[in-house]
Amino acid sequence: SLITSTEMFKKAYQGGYAIGAFNVNNMEIIQGIVEAAKEEKSPLILQVSAGARKYANPIYLKKLVEAAVEDSNLPIVLHLDHGEDFEIVKACIDSGFTSVMIDGSKHSFEENIRITKEVVEYAHSKGVVVEAELGRLAGVEDAVKVSAKDATYTDPDQAVEFVERTGCDSLAIAIGTSHGAYKFTGEPKLDFERLEIISKKLSGFPLVLHGASTVMPEFVAKCNQFGGKLPGAMGVPEDMLRKAATMGVCKINIDTDLRLAMTATIREYLTNHPEEFDPRKYLAPARTAIKDMVKHKIRNVLGSSNTI
Ligand code: G3H
Ligand code: 13P
Ligand code: NA
Ligand code: ZN
Repeated sequence: SLITSTEMFKKAYQGGYAIGAFNVNNMEIIQGIVEAAKEEKSPLILQVSAGARKYANPIYLKKLVEAAVEDSNLPIVLHLDHGEDFEIVKACIDSGFTSVMIDGSKHSFEENIRITKEVVEYAHSKGVVVEAELGRLAGVEDAVKVSAKDATYTDPDQAVEFVERTGCDSLAIAIGTSHGAYKFTGEPKLDFERLEIISKKLSGFPLVLHGASTVMPEFVAKCNQFGGKLPGAMGVPEDMLRKAATMGVCKINIDTDLRLAMTATIREYLTNHPEEFDPRKYLAPARTAIKDMVKHKIRNVLGSSNTI
């Protein structure tokens, strides 16, 4: 059934593992992810961005996720990713989402608190949980100066004040990850000291890691082998994600790895079968590639297998 993330985060926190939050945009992506979670007996968060709503039409995504729930019998959270304002949050809550993110991270601390509180009040009155964000994710350079880090990475004391004053249910933090396929130019590096301080100060409170795709080298290589152009693509190494999952991070967001798995597989198929033009021919292996990749993440990186 569609549920909130409250219980799954509690178990994930105590068990030192994380729940994968996968971005969904169409049927094949949803099916690949859900099949994987079903075989791994893992809980699941399916998340929908404003861009996904615009691409697919909100009602299609809602009905596809309902179909996935009915077909799989899995506990699934339907989550709004990066809600920008009260309006989109309300639309999602009113249509049956069980979790929403209000991303006020681009605003001042006080304004972020104000809009987050407004969302929390409405969401909680409807039994929906709220993820908020403090600190800014960005394309962070190799050697970020301490002062620049302090300006963009999550401040531990502010995080405590933010959670207390807003009543949010989980908090996305900035410790050096970023969205997309180009996260690092040199050695990948996350600020684990900062994460440790934040999770100590917010003891027991679920943290969220955005921009957490690994940008898996085999898919980057396959894209490039079959006509793509992704020079220097780089993500968060798997061991860093495993470590974060033991330090209070309960939700790990993954979109780019789905995109790369799908695109690499379609590129390969079309190159090797130039005579084919039935979309099912290339979407089926793309769906399988997503399933295999998500299974690998759940089992070997997130650690949420057999936790239902
Ligand atoms: O955080 C961004 C997610 O990858 C969603 O991307 O806004 O292009 O749908 P999108
Ligand atoms: P990636 O771009 O690393 O997949 O991050 C996705 C994300 O954070 C969605 O909110
Ligand atoms: Na959440
Ligand atoms: Zn994100």
